[in-house]
Amino acid sequence: MNKRGRFIVFEGPDKSGKTTQANLLYNHFKKLGKKVIITREPGGTAVSEKIRDILLDPKNKISPMCELLLYEASRAEHISAKIKPALLDGYTVICDRFTVATMAYQGFGRGLDVKVVKKLNYIATDGIKPDITIGFRLSKNEYIKRASGERDRIESESEGFRKKVNGAYSKIFKDMKNILLIDASDDINDIHKRIVDYVSKRMR
Ligand code: TMP
Repeated sequence: MNKRGRFIVFEGPDKSGKTTQANLLYNHFKKLGKKVIITREPGGTAVSEKIRDILLDPKNKISPMCELLLYEASRAEHISAKIKPALLDGYTVICDRFTVATMAYQGFGRGLDVKVVKKLNYIATDGIKPDITIGFRLSKNEYIKRASGERDRIESESEGFRKKVNGAYSKIFKDMKNILLIDASDDINDIHKRIVDYVSKRMR
């Protein structure tokens, strides 16, 4: 059987440039002819994308526990139908957000029991953990500069909620291993180079 592929996850607050950088890394690997896929959470499969639509529709009022279970349901499907098979087939999987987001938003943001969130993360992921995490930090000023246009249900939350989520990310990132921390206000090309350098060293 092929060697299991590497699982690279991008985590951090809204508007921090994760998606842009995840795509740049994907294109980098593609150019090198590597077996690679890019995906996102919530979403990544037909069913998980439907759950994403429910979660992000600003018209929906959703209780915190229902919200948590929907994120985990979307993840369980994503893991079993897409991420796990790809890793087993030797693909590098790049994922825009994963379990740290659930700790930050549903655990610390919504105030749900973080032990419950951890347990559900474990169940939904079938124990699969990222090999590498790219963690983004975004200052309040930078967020204000970037926050324009339509907002989804989570982005429409209060400043207090956003503060709790950002604080949670900093706290969680501090205790993590195999993480590259990025200041979102740095130059986009410099960030890309740092990510390529960090990831390449760990993919050999
Ligand atoms: P995005 O993919 O456009 O960043 O939107 C996803 C939104 O969902 C974002 O505001 C963060 C939020 N989210 C959670 O609240 N919990 C989660 O577990 C995940 C993966 C995302």
